[in-house]
Amino acid sequence: MKITIFGTWYVGLVTGTCLAEVWHDVLCIDIDQQKVDNLKEWIIPIYEPGLQELVVRNYREWRLDFTTDASAWVAFATAIFSAVGTPPDANHKADLRFVKAVATTVAENMTDYKVFINKSTVPVTTGDMCKDLMSDILKSREVNIDFDIVSNPEFLKEGCAVKDFMLPDRIVCGVESERAKQVMTEIYKSFTRTDKPLMFTDIKSSEIIKYAANSFLATKISFINEIANFAELVGANVGDISKGIGLDPRIGSKFLHAGIGYGGSCFPKDVSALIETGKEYWIDFKIIKATESVNARQKTKPVEKLQSLLPELKWKTIAIWGLAFKPKTDDIRDAPSIDVINKLLSLWVDTIRAFDPVAMDNMAHEFENEQKVIFTARNYDALKSADALIILTEWDAFRNPDFDKVSELMKWNVIVDGRNIYNKHIMQEKWFNYIWIGK
Ligand SMILES: NC(=O)c1ccc[n+]([C@@H]2O[C@H](COP(=O)([O-])OP(=O)(O)OC[C@H]3O[C@@H](n4cnc5c(N)ncnc54)[C@H](O)[C@@H]3O)[C@@H](O)[C@H]2O)c1
Repeated sequence: MKITIFGTWYVGLVTGTCLAEVWHDVLCIDIDQQKVDNLKEWIIPIYEPGLQELVVRNYREWRLDFTTDASAWVAFATAIFSAVGTPPDANHKADLRFVKAVATTVAENMTDYKVFINKSTVPVTTGDMCKDLMSDILKSREVNIDFDIVSNPEFLKEGCAVKDFMLPDRIVCGVESERAKQVMTEIYKSFTRTDKPLMFTDIKSSEIIKYAANSFLATKISFINEIANFAELVGANVGDISKGIGLDPRIGSKFLHAGIGYGGSCFPKDVSALIETGKEYWIDFKIIKATESVNARQKTKPVEKLQSLLPELKWKTIAIWGLAFKPKTDDIRDAPSIDVINKLLSLWVDTIRAFDPVAMDNMAHEFENEQKVIFTARNYDALKSADALIILTEWDAFRNPDFDKVSELMKWNVIVDGRNIYNKHIMQEKWFNYIWIGK
């Protein structure tokens, strides 16, 4: 089947590539000429394990292509995915500018039946908005062309996006016609041969499913972080508490790791957007608002912890291991590391020496005018003459360092572990002044 994808970054590129992998003919459209030129030379704009191999194979075998020429290529496929960004606007609502732009391009150029599929995370009633917008444009063109709107939110996780897409837990499709349902069934038939459901709902329910899922997961994280802060005060161990509650299948063990809170391109903006959407309907999402405020406090917890060990941070050199909001991605959008760095700078540290296996270019861009933030070529280089080390991302590369070397390089043996990756007893044996979260 021919498929067009608008927006060729984390979600659009993974969606397009994986659909090509199951032998659909896929055309990915982006407004960013550089990104498209790079993709044609197999330069992938993101770090995502396994993606490049699939892009290369499907491009070489003519099932995947890239263009910026949107209007010329609307005719290419019946199924058109919109996977453009929905970043927060100034009022923390989802900014639908890019979605509207895609719907407009499609309506202005379509000459036959289309299924317009919202894969971006969009607030409830966005489907209606797209329908009205496209109907108005078709009316002004004085043409009568059928189309359907579908909501098909994406649940992939950065870092294992390809695997998540190829082996989904579920595929949710909000539809309002049998014709659209058939198109979606055809698109996903290769993914649903297992017992994982292709689930059809109405459009509004599908739109809400995505926000409810992300808000629930974010709530689990904030919940365990609150318990962690309590455990710390009373001298308990949040690791044991997580295990003790997570073994109950009604609770489940996932997303119960205490740490420095959630970040990334989805949870923060989706939690805020749901709160804002609620306000439009006079709904006060109390639990979700609490989730957000607990998270805001938790993000700079490592600095508080550091201050408990080194009360005066002025003129100190602080090493940071890990900048990405989680391992296996170079995404730093809303990463807690940004909050930690800004907080350290506000406390007049002398230098921040940071290392991350893949996210340093993005972070260097974020702090391009900040002389005090230095990015080092190797993880150990970040430790040179450091007064303290803060762990902010639980990359495997940081799990088993040579602690003798760490100690040799650092000025003081102070480690704040924001991801609880080390064993306190081993750290104490090695004479580290070590502090973690919730234990
Ligand atoms: N990143 C994730 O892990 C993830 C997971 C699930 C859902 N989502 C949702 O998917 C959507 C996309 O997220 P992302 O991180 O892939 O996107 P993004 O915001 O990072 O990138 C979107 C891409 O769309 C392009 N674009 C913008 N306007 C365009 C237009 N008119 N025509 C063609 N291309 C256009 C941009 O150049 C960019 O390459 C968002 O709504 C996000 O919330 C993201």
